[in-house]
Amino acid sequence: MSRIALITGGMGGLGEAICIKMAALGYQVVTTYSPGNKTWKEWLDSMKQQGHNFKAYPCDVADFDSAKACIEQVTKEVGPVDVLVNNAGITRDMTFKKMDKVNWHAVMSTNLDSTFNMTKQVCDGMLDRGWGRIINISSVNGQKGAFGQTNYSAAKAGMHGFTKALALEVARKGVTVNTISPGYIGTKMVMAIPQDVLDSKIIPQIPMGRLGKPEEVAGLVAYLASEEAAFLTGANIAINGGQHMQ
Ligand code: CAA
Ligand code: NAP
Repeated sequence: MSRIALITGGMGGLGEAICIKMAALGYQVVTTYSPGNKTWKEWLDSMKQQGHNFKAYPCDVADFDSAKACIEQVTKEVGPVDVLVNNAGITRDMTFKKMDKVNWHAVMSTNLDSTFNMTKQVCDGMLDRGWGRIINISSVNGQKGAFGQTNYSAAKAGMHGFTKALALEVARKGVTVNTISPGYIGTKMVMAIPQDVLDSKIIPQIPMGRLGKPEEVAGLVAYLASEEAAFLTGANIAINGGQHMQ
């Protein structure tokens, strides 16, 4: 029986690459799409044409009850989740002067509450079975802060606090919990940055002089999910072209 990997936000730029990589390694891949997503079926069809038999379920990761209903359905129809990749996320960039409650909460609930909402549904099962991998996709901007991102930087930094605390609690039960902090990767999230800001303020700060590729992050997810990574827990792994070193 192949292991089951659930990747939230698998239809986005990073998520799709993670789904494809995990499928190539033999996992049964399950992904989620947000309730407002109108193109999920087309995405599944196009993946099928490329030979990928993914399953997809609606889930608002920001909402506990939606996460619970989603995982109940996945467990019933596919099986228990062995690898959870908390990847879904959003930005609502604005200077703190302009930041309002709505955009603060949207980012905190989608990027940080989601980590609790999803992990809560699968963690007990992993402990009972004595094996599990939880991989949280944070950001370089959670490590170093970023102009216009008080909400996002706070949420992404919070994810790693969650990782470290939970890693301690489950370390003796075969379950690892890790954070990946990607730098700027060429997906639609980064393409939403004004071009002049990208060219003048961001790319020059990346020693490699380029954006990262989704496949480069997917390879790291695959490693953290593997048997070889069994001794690696509570870590925050940077993958950012040298932009930020700790
Ligand atoms: N660093 C330093 N200064 C910056 C800056 C940055 N990254 N971004 C903007 N500024 C400066 C501008 O140059 C400008 O300076 P001047 O007034 O001296 O000309 C000033 O801030 C105001 O900029 P805007 O005119 O753009 O102001 P705005 O209110 O319209 O927009 C903003 C502000 C929303 C922050 C916009 O500049 C922006 O979107 N910046 C990019 C933010 C960003 O990098 N987001 C990362 C998204 S990708 C991601 O999050 C993925 C990941 O995890 C890595
Ligand atoms: P993306 O292409 O915009 O994809 C984001 C995904 O999140 C989408 O699939 C979206 O689902 C999903 N999502 C958003 N809100 C959701 C909700 N409420 N419920 C369920 N799903 C929701 O972005 P990306 O670049 O692939 O980013 C993926 C993750 O990597 C994010 O957590 C991001 O913060 C992080 N990250 C990205 C970069 C980068 O440079 N791109 C760098 C560091 C970290 P639908 O499409 O179904 O709406």
